[in-house]
Amino acid sequence: MTMKHLLITGGSKGIGNGLALRFKAEGYTIWSFARSTNEILAEENQITCDLTNLKEAEETFSKTLAKILAESPQEIVLINNAGTLGTVDRLENNSVDSIDTAIRLNLSVPMALTAIFIKKLEEADLKKEIINISSGAAVSPYYGWSTYCSSKAAVDMFTQVVAKEQETASYPVRILSIYPGIVDTNMQTEIRSRNKEQFELIDKFIESKEQNLLSSPAEAANAVYELFADSSLKSGEITDVRS
Ligand SMILES: NC(=O)c1ccc[n+]([C@@H]2O[C@H](COP(=O)([O-])OP(=O)(O)OC[C@H]3O[C@@H](n4cnc5c(N)ncnc54)[C@H](OP(=O)(O)O)[C@@H]3O)[C@@H](O)[C@H]2O)c1
Repeated sequence: MTMKHLLITGGSKGIGNGLALRFKAEGYTIWSFARSTNEILAEENQITCDLTNLKEAEETFSKTLAKILAESPQEIVLINNAGTLGTVDRLENNSVDSIDTAIRLNLSVPMALTAIFIKKLEEADLKKEIINISSGAAVSPYYGWSTYCSSKAAVDMFTQVVAKEQETASYPVRILSIYPGIVDTNMQTEIRSRNKEQFELIDKFIESKEQNLLSSPAEAANAVYELFADSSLKSGEITDVRS
């Protein structure tokens, strides 16, 4: 096992898979948490778990962290990546269950895993980093995306609060919030499958795909990695790969 570890939610597909492969290429041991696994990460640790079951998420994540700590690591990175659009429609057409599940996956899970990460590694004098994969939707109110936009805005806010709290920690964690751009994944396919009543901007998204304006998961992962590797980025910063 290497001395550098990446814990990532949703490493099975899309941007998360791109990130897992990018960090693997940099010598990190990968620990992915998702409901499914991916052949391409066959040699890595893929833990199958439905993160919206918070008890299961807590137990699995805590056990994995303990296992890593026992290996005397030099660096541990957590990427909170797994996410969902939830229902794309006017808020009144969202069911209570769909609001709850989307907010749980997009916000409660990253907050809970971040809390466990900080607590369990409080006394550990090693490089500790957290990247929250947020979205430009955090700062743009898209019609039909109320749960998604709100959850990402909250992710940005908790990133800043945690950064402030970590200022007084003995061995602080650096936490960043990164917008990955528009990336060709299942999430984008889902966006394009909606109709105009549900999502006013659908034509723009279809046009972007037709004009090949989306980046690939590997390109997005490279851009996120470059930001992560930039030590001048201060904890609490919210950055867009396109800026
Ligand atoms: N694509 C874009 O243009 C874009 C733009 C801005 C921000 N983002 C953000 O980037 C992140 C990744 O998005 P993506 O586009 O790569 O989406 P995606 O292709 O739909 O992948 C989502 C990932 O989350 C995992 N996941 C979903 N529900 C889960 C659950 N209940 N438990 C465990 N894992 C779960 C999925 O794995 P399983 O299905 O195997 O569980 C998958 O690996 C999200 O936070 C998204 O908001 C994406």
